[in-house]
Amino acid sequence: MFELNNVEYESKEAFYDNILLFAKGLMHEERDIIANLANISALLYHTMEEINWVGFYRYNNKELVLGPFQGKPACIRIQVGKGVCGTAAYTGETQVVPNVHEFSGHIPCDGDTNSEIVVPMVHQGQLMGVLDIDSPVLARFDEVDRMYLNELVALIMDQCAWEDM
Ligand code: SME
Repeated sequence: MFELNNVEYESKEAFYDNILLFAKGLMHEERDIIANLANISALLYHTMEEINWVGFYRYNNKELVLGPFQGKPACIRIQVGKGVCGTAAYTGETQVVPNVHEFSGHIPCDGDTNSEIVVPMVHQGQLMGVLDIDSPVLARFDEVDRMYLNELVALIMDQCAWEDM
C-alpha cells in the first residue's frame, strides 16, 4: 500500500527524488503500458501540488490520442504540431509554458489551466506519446520540473513494452 499524502519535502528536488523511487516501485516487473501510465498519472496527480490535470497522450495513426489521465475529461485527439502537446510531439522537446494564454495555438481542455508542461515520449527514435501536466498557477513549472519529469519519462520508456504498441 502506498502512502502518498501529507508528506512535506524540504525541496522540489527531494520531492522528485521520492517520486522517482515510487515510480520505480509501481512499475517494478510490470511492462504493461496502460497499467503503468495509469498508475504514474495517479501517482503524480495525488502528490504534485497546484496541478489540475495530469495524463498521457499516445501517438497513434499519426495523431495524439488521449490515454490514462487524472482530472477532468479532456480533448481526445490532438494533431502533431498543434497546441502544447502537439508542439512537444513535433519538436521532440519538453515544453514549459508559464502562461498558456500567451501560447499561440494552446488547446484549452480545462478552463482552470494557466500553465503547463509537456514531455515527449520517445522510444528508439520513435514518438510514442507525451506526458502532459496542467496547473491553475501561472509559471508553476520550471527547469527543475523539466529535468525530473524528463527523467521520469525516461524511466517509463525503459520500463514499458513499447514494442506492443
Ligand atoms: N492544453 C493542451 C491540450 C491537452 S489538455 O491540457 C489536457 C495543449 O494545448 O496541447
